Amino acid sequence: LPAPSAAVLALAVRVPRRFLRLPDLAAARGADPDKYRSGLGCLEMGVPAPGSDAVTLAAGAARRLLADRPEEAARVGLCVVGTESGVDRAKPVAIWVHELAGLPRACSAFDVKHACYGGTAALRMALAWVAANPDRRALVVAADIARYPIGSPGEPTQGAGAVAMLVGYDGAGEAAWTPSPVSGTCARQVGDFWQPLYLRDARVRGRVSIEGYLAALDGALADYRSRAGDEPPPDHLIVHAPFPGMARKAHRQWAAAQGIDAPAAVAADFRARVAPWLWVNERLGNAYAASVFLSLAGLAERLGPRPGGRRIAMFSYGSGSCGEYCTGRLGGGAAPVVGADLDARAAVTVGEYEALRAECLALEADGSLRDDPEPSGDGATFLGVRDDERRYRRD
Ligand code: HMG
Repeated sequence: LPAPSAAVLALAVRVPRRFLRLPDLAAARGADPDKYRSGLGCLEMGVPAPGSDAVTLAAGAARRLLADRPEEAARVGLCVVGTESGVDRAKPVAIWVHELAGLPRACSAFDVKHACYGGTAALRMALAWVAANPDRRALVVAADIARYPIGSPGEPTQGAGAVAMLVGYDGAGEAAWTPSPVSGTCARQVGDFWQPLYLRDARVRGRVSIEGYLAALDGALADYRSRAGDEPPPDHLIVHAPFPGMARKAHRQWAAAQGIDAPAAVAADFRARVAPWLWVNERLGNAYAASVFLSLAGLAERLGPRPGGRRIAMFSYGSGSCGEYCTGRLGGGAAPVVGADLDARAAVTVGEYEALRAECLALEADGSLRDDPEPSGDGATFLGVRDDERRYRRD
């Protein structure tokens, strides 16, 4: 057995229960469907329901994770949410998750923010906390809704989702995901993507964001190598996938750094190391902080339980910007059913997607409180706002 270490013992996911087919969006926007399919690599995008927000997605993932683990839930002493879809400037998403998931009072709860890097930052913090509190558990949730202006270049890359992770000391060597303590990082202030407090969707400089992402990968990988030294290549490479074409660009750069340059070799390497998880991102779209962990869940599902675990390299990127590169072991116990959730979704038309989006935004205003709304499908529902205060229901 490997030496006991702080790790993600188990994880669970939540995705919206509706989706839009990208060829339908291309037709409505007058775009070539091949641009979305081959250029960006996007096939479908998750469409949040009215009553779904970062809180309900995060709480829903946490409830799913802890439902069959009451003893583990009782040991949780830290609840951290990595998100850029916060619902209040003061009150964290984490305190709603704490209530809706029924966590103990002896617990701290707060959010961590750095765009799509927030989930990774939250996990790093929880791993360090667990090392200092080996008898307890931390709950880390990465949750986001990616929203760009209608008709903008970012629109086909939208999506949403959450991943909840139970973090603790793994004595049995059965953890779902054990990241290496050593990681490489790269931080640099860049105006590539941001979400002004007074707006409801993201602003982005597309090309600048792609360059910023690749520069951060370069910096984080160089830092990792200087700290970890020579290592055999990992079995799989997971990178933040705001759209699948970005994962292709990142893999090409990573492969070149390993000395793999010939187009046929790069393509074969991509099929072996990246394709086994990218299917999730192709069908869901960007889920910002949750994306990289949804990819991890997709890889675990595709590989199935394997004794001995697989070595994975993971690159997380948050605009603004911060990147982190690490390696880790994927354990046999990680097999969340993201594929079944994606298959169970209902398709919507472009008109329905636009109406649902407008309904979600209308719920953000004071006086929107609804008496008995349809469940969001996340496991918790945002009921609306009364007296400037948000209300939620556990479903
Ligand atoms: P765009 O400007 O509309 O697209 O937006 P484009 O013209 O650059 O085309 C995209 C690709 O499709 C190109 O391929 C074209 O050649 C190809 P590439 O040259 O890049 O390999 N193409 C076609 N292919 C086949 N048939 C056709 C066709 N036409 C064009 N007919 C952009 C693209 C990504 C900029 C846009 O979708 C966007 O702004 N997305 C949001 C920002 C983003 O995802 N940035 C990625 C890096 S930043 C990041 O990852 C952080 C983030 O997740 C936020 C956070 O941290 O919180 C975004």
